[in-house]
Amino acid sequence: MNSLIIANWKCNPATLKEAQELFSEIKENIINKDIVICPPSIFLPSLICDGINFGAQNCFWKESGAYTGEVSPQMIKSIGCKYVIIGHSERRTIFNESNDEIKSKIKQAKKAGLIPIVCIGESKNQNTFEIIEEQIKDIEKDIILAYEPLWAIGTGENASIDKVREVREYLKDRKVLYGGSVNSQNAKDYLEIADGLLIGGASLNAKEFIKISNILCDI
Ligand code: 13P
Repeated sequence: MNSLIIANWKCNPATLKEAQELFSEIKENIINKDIVICPPSIFLPSLICDGINFGAQNCFWKESGAYTGEVSPQMIKSIGCKYVIIGHSERRTIFNESNDEIKSKIKQAKKAGLIPIVCIGESKNQNTFEIIEEQIKDIEKDIILAYEPLWAIGTGENASIDKVREVREYLKDRKVLYGGSVNSQNAKDYLEIADGLLIGGASLNAKEFIKISNILCDI
């Protein structure tokens, strides 16, 4: 797998018009095509196009049925997505998603033919490897993991290169991306260790995201 640069727009931007403007600037200027854009699900059908990979930020653990408000992996696949982010720490903490629920989502996503990008990572006072062990228990190896320590998300604080290397080595037989306050200044250092990047804030700035994505062309 080539290194992947994944944009997690989270619950941004607030309107379809802004999402279209952001995406068209990225699309026109991107050289490296190993990127994945994960906008809010509602914007996906208006943005999906040939030549760029798309993903959803979450999915349900059933294919269909009486589950008001949910979006299934089969639906996500049917509109042209290739990936789905599962178990982001914001979903684990704000929406109380458990490891069991995350496992069910991974299973259904794989059944639908999507590639799950599963987020793992510890909060400040937790032991990294204890938490990672709990989070990856019974999860097969044919998925992508994104190591995103909670204290590095949206804070401007980064995991040290040594820490990411340690996690990478611990999970040596898996694909591991890094996420947490990545920007165009630090992206190259992480790309030399990890299999790619999961980018939040910086992916909402087209110029910054393009700069990060095109770093791969120089490595
Ligand atoms: P930031 O890049 O804003 O720290 O967010 C990281 C993240 O949560 C990506 O999923």
